[in-house]
Amino acid sequence: MSDQAHEVVLARPVTATPVAADFVVVTRDRAPPKGDGSLKVRPLFLSLDPYIGARIRGRHMGEPAPAPGEPLPGFCVAEVQESRDPGFAPGDCVVTEAGWTDLAWVRSDTARKVSADIAPSLHLSVLGMPGLTAWAGMTQLARTGDGDLLTVNAAAGTVGGVAGQIARNLGGRAVGVAGGPEKCALVVDRYGFDACIDYRAVDWEAQVAAAVAPGSTIHFENVGAGQLSVGIRNLKPYGRVVLCGLADHYQADAGPAVTAIGPLVGKRAAVFGLVVYDFYPRWAEWTALAEPWVKAGRLTIAEDIGHGLDSAGRQLERLMRGENVGKTLVRV
Ligand SMILES: NC(=O)c1ccc[n+]([C@@H]2O[C@H](COP(=O)([O-])OP(=O)(O)OC[C@H]3O[C@@H](n4cnc5c(N)ncnc54)[C@H](OP(=O)(O)O)[C@@H]3O)[C@@H](O)[C@H]2O)c1
Repeated sequence: MSDQAHEVVLARPVTATPVAADFVVVTRDRAPPKGDGSLKVRPLFLSLDPYIGARIRGRHMGEPAPAPGEPLPGFCVAEVQESRDPGFAPGDCVVTEAGWTDLAWVRSDTARKVSADIAPSLHLSVLGMPGLTAWAGMTQLARTGDGDLLTVNAAAGTVGGVAGQIARNLGGRAVGVAGGPEKCALVVDRYGFDACIDYRAVDWEAQVAAAVAPGSTIHFENVGAGQLSVGIRNLKPYGRVVLCGLADHYQADAGPAVTAIGPLVGKRAAVFGLVVYDFYPRWAEWTALAEPWVKAGRLTIAEDIGHGLDSAGRQLERLMRGENVGKTLVRV
């Protein structure tokens, strides 16, 4: 028997930065697929991430843009309602890509079972793809440890916020950079960073230099060329740079992000490009480290939640403008 579901899809092809009016909620019939190996899932939260805005425009890692009416990309955390796989049971909590919908059938080999004793939304943030990204950059590429001093921007967001908390939990210190006093207060008061500098202040570059003097050992880049230059300038000799994201450039129609590389030579710096896909097979390593931290209150994230599928387009628009505070989610 088929069920009725609601789904958010594109109302039109997107050729500029996505806005709420690009999305529409439609009603769908969901018939069960033939054969075994599938799950009927009811999404609890959708994850909205910066790459989705680029993907919708066909600008992400060569992946095609979804056409109007097609399922939209992104993870959700969902409850299994019906299982045609002996490895899953009704009531299990899974992370999967179901589209932006309130009911779907998904292939069970695309679903990852997650702990039901942790708030479900955290499986999309600190324990999800952005948290895995921070872990990969900090522990596998920069190999952080005792005594490190990290600079990281977009520090109020999930990747930046988790990167700083990893540094601190492993014996280092963290200085964040973020847009506005509200985000900076969150980074220090809730995430426990040593300092956070508001890049909207006229003298923000001098403030970063003072906060990390005589220099940082790791710079983690989430935003783009202007902020990257400041991160590199304040690095100690033999420092490490993780190139994770370019949020300030994804929607720009100007040429590629450009930064002077001379200082990297002078500082004998190591530079690592990061693509989280490489680390998907190692998700369990991150959750084994992170879940005890979450339960002990040593790893946390603010949540920026929209309520209902109707809010999804508006939430993505806010993320594209950098107006989100913490992890951007939709409660389905
Ligand atoms: N390499 C990978 O595999 C990988 C995987 C996941 C994520 N990432 C990247 O990691 C970065 C952080 O991801 P996240 O999920 O934690 O996002 P997020 O920090 O919650 O959101 C992005 C933040 O970027 C900042 N930003 C600066 N300039 C911006 C602009 N012109 N437009 C929009 N935002 C701007 C904003 O913070 P402020 O106001 O504080 O500047 C905004 O809140 C992103 O660049 C993302 O693409 C990379």
